[in-house]
Amino acid sequence: MAVITNDEINAIRNKANIVDIIGSYLPLTQRGKNYVCVCPFHDDHSPSMSVSEEKQIYKCFACGNTGNVFTFVENYEGVNFIDAVAIVAEKAGIDIDKRKLKTNRVLINKDELEMMDIAEKYFQNNLKTEFGTTAMDYLNGRGINEDIIKEFGIGLSLDNGDSLYNLLLKKKYDSKKILEVGLVNDSNGKYYDMFTRRITFPLWDKDGNIVGFSARIYRGEVDTSKYINSRETKLFKKGETLYNYHHAREFVKNEKSVIVVEGFMDAIRLSVEGVRNVVALQGTALTKEQIVLLKKLHVKVILCLDNDNAGEAATLSNGDMLIKEGLEVYVIRLSGEKDPDEYILVHGINAFKENLKNPFTFFDFKMYYLKKNKDLSKSNDLALYINQVLEEVANTGDEILIEVTLNNISKEYNLAMDVLRGKLRGLQKDNKKEVKVVEKKIKEKKDAYLLSADKIIYFMLNGGAYINEYQKKLGFFEDALHREIANEIIYYYQRNNAINPADFISYVSDKETIKDEVMNIVSNGIDDDVSIEIMDGYIARVDELMVKNEIKRLKIELKNETDASKKIEILERITELKKSD
Ligand code: UTP
Ligand code: MN
Repeated sequence: MAVITNDEINAIRNKANIVDIIGSYLPLTQRGKNYVCVCPFHDDHSPSMSVSEEKQIYKCFACGNTGNVFTFVENYEGVNFIDAVAIVAEKAGIDIDKRKLKTNRVLINKDELEMMDIAEKYFQNNLKTEFGTTAMDYLNGRGINEDIIKEFGIGLSLDNGDSLYNLLLKKKYDSKKILEVGLVNDSNGKYYDMFTRRITFPLWDKDGNIVGFSARIYRGEVDTSKYINSRETKLFKKGETLYNYHHAREFVKNEKSVIVVEGFMDAIRLSVEGVRNVVALQGTALTKEQIVLLKKLHVKVILCLDNDNAGEAATLSNGDMLIKEGLEVYVIRLSGEKDPDEYILVHGINAFKENLKNPFTFFDFKMYYLKKNKDLSKSNDLALYINQVLEEVANTGDEILIEVTLNNISKEYNLAMDVLRGKLRGLQKDNKKEVKVVEKKIKEKKDAYLLSADKIIYFMLNGGAYINEYQKKLGFFEDALHREIANEIIYYYQRNNAINPADFISYVSDKETIKDEVMNIVSNGIDDDVSIEIMDGYIARVDELMVKNEIKRLKIELKNETDASKKIEILERITELKKSD
């Protein structure tokens, strides 16, 4: 299978000037040797984003978004890296073979992904056979027609226990691999289809590859779970999937929002009715990985979870997490029916859209929630309520919201503004203290060693001379992350005989463990000059700190060592290190 090579990606990046490409989306103004613009990735009012023509890198000094020309398009258009390469190529007038545009993930897992596609087709076909009539009736009864079935790849797993397994064997797939990918279960060495007697729904990763299935009972079965899902496999990580994400990302840009629902049936219903900027959690709790996916969309999040206590509690905890990550959060609470799917079936899509027009801000939802289980005619409850409100509003740091809220409570509960302000000031002081402590911790962590190590990596990205200097004078980092990055740089340089920060960013785009750190390092160097002399300064510093740490480590070892001859060995090593210090 043809793959787009790093050379080809680099050639595209070389031909496409980042200033022209970003300039095709946003007005850029030249300032010094860089260009600046209003950052499209956060609510920016003054130009915080800087674009370096020389380095072919951009960086927002306010929100930290950074990268090369592909990263920009990836973030701006909400597409994956490879699609961004295609868009940039087209904008720069470069012809590329479209078949080459497959991600590494697809290439590495070729057999596995093919099996998932075969399973999907097979399930879909079952639905059309005589075995599918009851399932079809069930789906039609839920307002799911042929078009929807096709669009969402809905299918049926049969009643017998090994038809899919046999099909895959016949197509020459390895039985071990079929097990690994979660399509069969192992029962004392005999393999059986994982999914039987259920309506099947494919689950996709963020790029739209089928990585698992969820399957629902449809004949009123009892004593079994409503849905069963693929187990965790090397393809399927439940916590990393947001149902419908790859479809929704095309639509969020226009709508400027993404709607988050619990069940994938809710997402399907909304999409069918034309509200297509929707993703489903497949449960109630939002995971860290799902938050990362939502952040990548750069739009506000509208939480529309089920109309029950669990849905309400999850709205609160999920909203809190999203706010902490700097996202703008709104809330819709539907009443009457249990979830968005049923709400729309009963009341129609227009009733839903009315709700969509006026969502609660997350803050207002919180205020409602705090009030809900309290009897505010009782002084205990009232005091608790007001304290909680003040705490929440202090946390927002939004002065206008603070003023409005204070005014409202003062009027509603007949309380003196002075008292409220006094209490609020106390809370704000606590907050500031907390922020300071956190900041200090971050600073301590990014200590001298890490800062210098970052710089050395940055220099290494600027050419063979710097890589040589590293290998000659240091050759090693004590922490795994910098070590891994340095090794990747050396490997990259050996293969390509050339290196620069912007191309290296492309290279690490699918290396999850180091990608963020590399971006960080490059963006921090956006205005740095490079020379061997400056690099040597950082190398000396890292060397000195690593020796100190090694001595520290040896001293602890020495303390714990009981064997006398080994103690002497350690002492000798310490003396040796101290000499070089
Ligand atoms: P819900 O029970 O709210 O599902 O669970 P739903 O969307 O209303 O389903 P229908 O309408 O009865 O068909 C929400 C999500 O939780 C997961 C599924 O991903 C579902 O979409 N879930 C639920 C399971 O994984 N297993 C279950 O047994 C139930
Ligand atoms: Mn439902």
